[in-house]
Order: sequence, then C-alpha cells, then structure tokens
Amino acid sequence: MSKHGFDSNAVTLTRFVLSEQSKVPNATGELTQLLNSIQTAVKVISSAVRRAGITKLFGIAGETNVQGEEVKKLDVLANDLFINMLKSSYTVALLISEENETVIEVETEQRGKYIVAFDPLDGSSNIDCLVSIGSIFAIMKKEDNSIPNIKDALQPGTKVVASGYALYGSATMMVLALGNSVNGFMLDPSFGEFILTDKDMRIPSRGKIYAINEGYTHEWDAAVKEYVDNKKDPAKGKPYNARYVGSMVADVHRTIKYGGIFIYPATKSSPNGKLRLLYECIPMAHIIETAGGLATNGKIPILQVQPTGLHQRSPIFLGSKEDVEDVLAVIKKHEL
Ligand code: AHM
Ligand code: MG
Repeated sequence: MSKHGFDSNAVTLTRFVLSEQSKVPNATGELTQLLNSIQTAVKVISSAVRRAGITKLFGIAGETNVQGEEVKKLDVLANDLFINMLKSSYTVALLISEENETVIEVETEQRGKYIVAFDPLDGSSNIDCLVSIGSIFAIMKKEDNSIPNIKDALQPGTKVVASGYALYGSATMMVLALGNSVNGFMLDPSFGEFILTDKDMRIPSRGKIYAINEGYTHEWDAAVKEYVDNKKDPAKGKPYNARYVGSMVADVHRTIKYGGIFIYPATKSSPNGKLRLLYECIPMAHIIETAGGLATNGKIPILQVQPTGLHQRSPIFLGSKEDVEDVLAVIKKHEL
C-alpha cells in the first residue's frame, strides 16, 4: 500500500479467481466467467442499495414514477440482475431463485454447465430501515447432458462447487467459498473493484454470541429452550451476548468473524423453520463448513440433506464448531 492509500498490486476478486483457476488442470474458465457475472450483479445491487431512498427503490413494486416508468422494488431489480447477468455469461443451464416459483430456464444457445441457486436480496424486512441486507448463492454442476430440469436443481450441498454471499453493510463485502478456503473481498466504491481483505477466513472454534429470534421462545421445542437458557444462565458459565440482525447474511458474517452460533429453529407454526434449504441454508452451510465451522438441521449436517422441493425450508444451527456441538448434545439429550 503506498502513502496515497492505493495498492498498485491489489488482489482483486477477478484476479483471485483467475489464480485459483490456474491451479485446476484443464479448467475451461467457465466458473471464472460465472463468478464475474455474479460480481457484476452484486456491484449494481450495492450501488442501488446505497441510493435506494433517492431513486425511490424502497417500498412496493408496481408503482410508476413521474415519467410513467415502473418503479422497481430493490428485490425485483436484484433478481433481474442476477438472472440477466448469469444467463448472458453462457455458463449456466438452470437457475433457482427465491423470487421465482419454478426453475428459470436458459435458452439452448446460452447454456453452460452450471446450476446456480440464489436469494438475490435477503433480509427484506431490513431494506427500508437501512439495516444490512445481502445476496446469497450456491453453484453446482449439471451432472449429465440431458435437457435441464428440476432434478438438476435438487442437489444436496455435498455437490456444491462454490458458494458465497454479498453483504451490503457499512461496507459491501463479497465472501466466497471456493476449493478449500473462504476469502472475503471488500468493494472499493471509488473504482468499483472487490479487493481481497480477509484472506483464508476461519471461524473461531467457540464464540460468545448467540443469535436467534427470541420473540418465538414460546414456539420452540424444549431442547432449543434449554440451550438458549444455558447461554443466559451465569450458573452455567459466563453468559453469551445476544445479537440478532434479522438478515441472515449479516448474522452469518458476524458469526464467521467473531464466532458463536446462529439458529433459526423449527417453531410450532413453522415446523421446518423459515429459511430455505437451496439458496439460504445450503450456501451458508457450505461457507461455514469450509471456514471450519458446523451447520446442521439438528439431526444431520445441512450439506447432507437431499432436497425434495425448490423452496423447501429447513431448521438451521450454524457457527463455531464447539457451540454447534453443544446444541447438538442438548438436542440428543432431549431425544432420549
Ligand atoms: P426473507 O427471505 O423474506 O428476507 O427472509 C429471510 C430472513 C433471513 O435473512 C433472516 O435470518 C430471517 O428471515 C429472519 O426471520 P425472523 O424475522 O422470523 O426472525
Ligand atoms: Mg431470503
């Protein structure tokens, strides 16, 4: 870094992915191209998020502005960006989005070999009040040469090739799990590039923070109640701090940086929890486990769950290895 604050040899996200690609013999560059298209989508979303109040991107879609143009809600814009950038990268065969009921097909001439599941803008309740929000994605390979169909979308997390999220927080950051490591890249808004700032991110083996929506305490099962009570009881050790943003990307990012546990359990009214397996739980589990943590649905690792539906939900417990092991021990005790 020079005295003017610019690094003439900075590792950008593109440069990082290219160097990872060079380590794989016979790599075609398709994944690099795919990640570049996500990067472009994320840069535009980040810019749109920062200016949303001014450009009237908050609130309900379907309104028209003074020019008579339709005002796009931020999450509609984010979804369109992901879809258009990914399709035009010539690297994907099929897309799965939180915003689309069915799979998104890609025209034959634009098709490539990857499948991407994504939540283009997660944390909808936080959009209008300027609390952190994010985008989440998981990339899988199409396993055969058949015409892409829903079966290609229903792959377990063990098949994920790469996953990541973008956090639109006090800064915009992209975190990417590729190969055996997780790396974080901060967006420098002055020239629009993601710069490697968090090399080889590892989650602490234990943290001091628990994150769960405690408003639903009355809907939890006895094991979750006992675990959370333990975290607050001075007789059981120094109590943990409570932190809950309500945007999964922000809660997970903090968990990777500081350690601890993030829980969205089954509740009485949502017996499978709230979060979606394909584009929320699986990518986050892949990132967390690549960073040395654990992610489970309370019974088996999230990455081993065989998806059966595009928008299926799953309970999730993820974070520092020892913290997740603790909650699993409590769950086990209650099953006896
Ligand atoms: P969304 O996809 O409608 O934005 O909902 C997902 C979000 C997650 O980011 C977050 O972890 C969770 O919902 C919070 O839910 P709750 O308000 O029930 O605690
Ligand atoms: Mg979501």
